Amino acid sequence: MKKITSILVLFFCIQISYTTQASGPVYKDKNAPIESRIKDLVSKMNLDEKILQLNQYTAGLNTNANNIGEAVKAIPAEIGSLIYFSADPVWRNQIQKKAMEESRLGIPILFGFDVIHGYRTVYPISLGQACSWDPALVTEAAAVAAREAKLSGVDWTFSPMIDVARDPRWGRVAEGYGEDPYTNAVFGVATVKGYQGKNLNDPYSVAACLKHFVAYGMSEGGRDYRYSDVSRQSLWETYLVPYEACVKAGAATLMSSFNDISGVPGSANPYTLTEILKKRWKHDGFVVSDWDAINQLINQGVAADRKEAGLKAFTAGVEMDMTDQIYAQNFKQLIAEKKISMAKVDEAVSRVLRVKFRLGLFDKPYSTVVDESQRYLTPESKAIAQRLSAESMVLLKNEKNTLPLNSGVKQIALIGPMATDKENLLGAWSANGKESDVESISEGLNKEFGTSVKINLAKGCGFDGRDESGFAEAIAATQKSDVVLICLGEKRGWSGENASRSSIALPVIQEKLVQELRNTGKPIVLILSNGRPLELVRLEPLADAMVEIWQPGVCGGSALAGILSGRTNPSGKLSMTFPLSTGQIPTYYDMRQSARPTGGQGNYQDIPTEPLYWFGHGLSYTTFTYGTAKLSATKIKKTEKLTVEVEVTNSGNVKGTETVLWYISDPACSISRPMKELKFFEKKELTAGAKTTFKFEIDPMRDLSFVDSDGKHFLETGDFYVLVNKQKVKFEVTE
Ligand code: NOJ
Repeated sequence: MKKITSILVLFFCIQISYTTQASGPVYKDKNAPIESRIKDLVSKMNLDEKILQLNQYTAGLNTNANNIGEAVKAIPAEIGSLIYFSADPVWRNQIQKKAMEESRLGIPILFGFDVIHGYRTVYPISLGQACSWDPALVTEAAAVAAREAKLSGVDWTFSPMIDVARDPRWGRVAEGYGEDPYTNAVFGVATVKGYQGKNLNDPYSVAACLKHFVAYGMSEGGRDYRYSDVSRQSLWETYLVPYEACVKAGAATLMSSFNDISGVPGSANPYTLTEILKKRWKHDGFVVSDWDAINQLINQGVAADRKEAGLKAFTAGVEMDMTDQIYAQNFKQLIAEKKISMAKVDEAVSRVLRVKFRLGLFDKPYSTVVDESQRYLTPESKAIAQRLSAESMVLLKNEKNTLPLNSGVKQIALIGPMATDKENLLGAWSANGKESDVESISEGLNKEFGTSVKINLAKGCGFDGRDESGFAEAIAATQKSDVVLICLGEKRGWSGENASRSSIALPVIQEKLVQELRNTGKPIVLILSNGRPLELVRLEPLADAMVEIWQPGVCGGSALAGILSGRTNPSGKLSMTFPLSTGQIPTYYDMRQSARPTGGQGNYQDIPTEPLYWFGHGLSYTTFTYGTAKLSATKIKKTEKLTVEVEVTNSGNVKGTETVLWYISDPACSISRPMKELKFFEKKELTAGAKTTFKFEIDPMRDLSFVDSDGKHFLETGDFYVLVNKQKVKFEVTE
């Protein structure tokens, strides 16, 4: 009897557990379709719970001086998202446990953070990454950043920044991929792929956030947080291009921008946020405001108070309020006043939940906790950083083959404020980067050359100021050396957010140091580490060679040393034009043709109009000879494709890597086109003497069409040119 009873009890228990599972809420059933889970959950949420899902608070201490937030002491268990200013997965798990176990419905929190160019394995700044022309490598780097972030408690990164930027005075040029829409699109997509992996639900995927939507790079005069006078034509053909590509690539979220887009700020702009993003592009994730961007609508003159600011942002299409707490404080009233409908709230909440479900947070809310040594800076991660740093560096000038340093060089003078620096090599927005992880230029050189070369080190001067007391030591070090490497540049805080500069020249003290060392007559190699293109008009004539290393991250020292020794042949090409002087700004390769292009009319009267280095400039230790570009046809129909190919020979003595940039030009069109537009690029390594064919398949609708001021694409018949290297080849498109 006892046995029968226990069998019955067991049977009963199994039944109960089955019934509980079978009748459990749909939103908790990991096998149910995501849309059913969202619908079920939203139907169970009360208004307070819904409103909190639309808010983001902070957790931990914020290190960004531009966004000082309160460390939230009592984080509500129902909060939608947190900016997670900590690298401790255990703390995250404690906060998450509270959300899962103490909130009524157990909705996981989404932990976000600015992972911009690496988490702990810090890579070159994005502007430098684009100079590598190696999107596959950038994907690998982003995947490592995602893994490191995920293992530190982060599910969502506020990256990539894909703001096309043509004014190097704007500090945030460091964070994007330069001046060209297509380049920003390609590297934005590469980064999104790396962060999000094959599936957002994968253990090491994080959600991407495209920012700052949109045209923030157009900030007037390069000043941050300012008005952007952007015509709808420029919006469509320049600023929206990378966003459309990244939305199509599946980017989970976007961040609305600070700037006022021709009278309607990015964070209250129904045309960009709803008409374009949600209706035309069908983005079904969510938009988070930038920090304080909703509140700032008052300063921008489109809202009288916080309540109106919240209403405008939400109605325009911003689903989540980053830290302002405007949604949290005003939505109940706005709903009661029927200014915001419940349907709209439900839709916004659904968008936030969709990203959480896609990330798998409901089913796996906690971070995996592993030892720091398994999380960060693994040999594989550093190998990627090493390659990316080396590939991003650009050999700007190399007179008389000064580089690579030849075997006759027995003593090197290593001078300048950047020579032993570590912190500034990390670059802007490297919040979790540690100075101690960085290999300095001096360490890189010592490792590269060992005892075969004597390095005579002298700082010479600081980054700025007037102190020339170190000049004498620098001159003495140079005099006893065969060559002098002068390591100059910008401090990391000189670029990035709120870091605009009226001049893009280096401070006078640095220029003066170079002048003094030039007087020694020794060959001068300038090593430049900066977050923006520089004005080099006075420095360039003093230098025999110049290497732009950007802010190269943790492996910068040895990546540079490889280039100096010749172990690595430089292959980087600029993703942003270096104007001759600040007064030339804006100057970018895809400008419109002047109405009087010949005879120098309309040019500056006091300085040349040409920049110092165009977009795409970059030298190698070998030479590449281009054959004649050949078209598969000189006339095609609109529906036909055309292939153009060019044979490239490595005509020098060493192995090298060439990136071929293919441009299109449309000389007569109903809306004038830029003089040339980059449409494709390809990078290949060639051993000395080897030749290979580079091909570009022109798809007329993709590569030859243009967009009007409302985003409609047109393809017109007529003549076009394809440009490669110094060649320009004509073809015709017919009906
Ligand atoms: C302000 C910056 O503009 C944005 O890029 C960043 O993601 C947020 N703060 C969060 O830190």
